[in-house]
Amino acid sequence: MNPMEPLRFLSPDRAFDVGARLGEIRTFLQERLIGADALVERLLIGLVADGHVLLEGAPGLAKTRAVKLLASASNLTFARIQCTPDLMPADITGTSIWRQDKSVFEFSAGPIFHSLLLVDEINRAPPKVQSALLEAMAERQATIAGATHALPDPFMTVATQNPIEHEGTFPLPEAQLDRFMLHVELALPDAATERLILDLVEREDQGAAVAPPEALQPEEIAGARQAARSVFLSAAIKDYIVRLVTAPRDASIAPELAAKIAHPSSPRGTLALAAGAKARAFLDGRDYVAPQDVTELAVDVLSHRTILGWRALAEGETPRGVIRAYLDAVPPA
Ligand SMILES: Nc1ncnc2c1ncn2[C@@H]1O[C@H](COP(=O)(O)OP(=O)(O)OP(=O)(O)O)[C@@H](O)[C@H]1O
Ligand SMILES: [Mg+2]
Repeated sequence: MNPMEPLRFLSPDRAFDVGARLGEIRTFLQERLIGADALVERLLIGLVADGHVLLEGAPGLAKTRAVKLLASASNLTFARIQCTPDLMPADITGTSIWRQDKSVFEFSAGPIFHSLLLVDEINRAPPKVQSALLEAMAERQATIAGATHALPDPFMTVATQNPIEHEGTFPLPEAQLDRFMLHVELALPDAATERLILDLVEREDQGAAVAPPEALQPEEIAGARQAARSVFLSAAIKDYIVRLVTAPRDASIAPELAAKIAHPSSPRGTLALAAGAKARAFLDGRDYVAPQDVTELAVDVLSHRTILGWRALAEGETPRGVIRAYLDAVPPA
């Protein structure tokens, strides 16, 4: 980066330069994560909209790989926490260590002080650790031995959860789930995709992988965030977002769907959907939000904030299915 051009990415008419750089990074990630375009898009939306992402999927679906690639492509410091039931808050936040030679306590920062934090199997962490993570994610600070420390900016958490293991887990409380902007569900690849993965990993093992583009600089991330925030969101689309998020609160709109929901999304869902839709438009090279930005993201933004009633759960309903049905019941215009 030329230090003589510090404002380059902050000027609105150059916003699409940042867009082009993000396009490069997106292509690189898509080439290295086969059949995972939606995952790549969601991770970049999280980065650009300053949101945390919860990934749900079986082991071996390239979750760790995706986050490591994002870290390498965005020049962010990276740390990974593997959660276990005996993890202590100090293991993630850090601790004060007595320095005999200097006769002082010195703060030794934990993994949470990295810009991109991968929290593997977050639902295996005990509640005290989950609560320390919640403070970090929501307030971007960590309190250690009574002293409050600011986290780096950007600070993005990508947490993973394995849907098939329930024993020995601590399900995330709703307030914790609400801190994630997006909840992404990963599916097993089909045979053709699986074959491409095999070819790719073989090429990598032979040292023939494509070279990564120049990593994003902090000012490029800041510029992308500013450009995404200023994407135009029309009154009609704002109304659409609000109608969608508030529909479950009004039993007259789709009575059979509303009956399935015990707790609908809070206004955090509205704000996350608006910010996510703007980021999606920006990544798509548009300076305005289109209805499909909202429609495409609604399930990932709202499903983890929507708590179903016991009867719906007993009938095998899922929040994702119910939100999908709401998308049909509440059309864009
Ligand atoms: N879509 C994909 N594109 C490229 N490589 C893939 C893909 N899916 C799986 N792999 C390969 O599968 C292996 C497992 O990936 P990774 O370790 O990232 O999985 P994970 O989701 O983090 O698993 P776990 O939940 O067990 O930690 C890696 O070698 C990775 O290269
Ligand atoms: Mg992993």
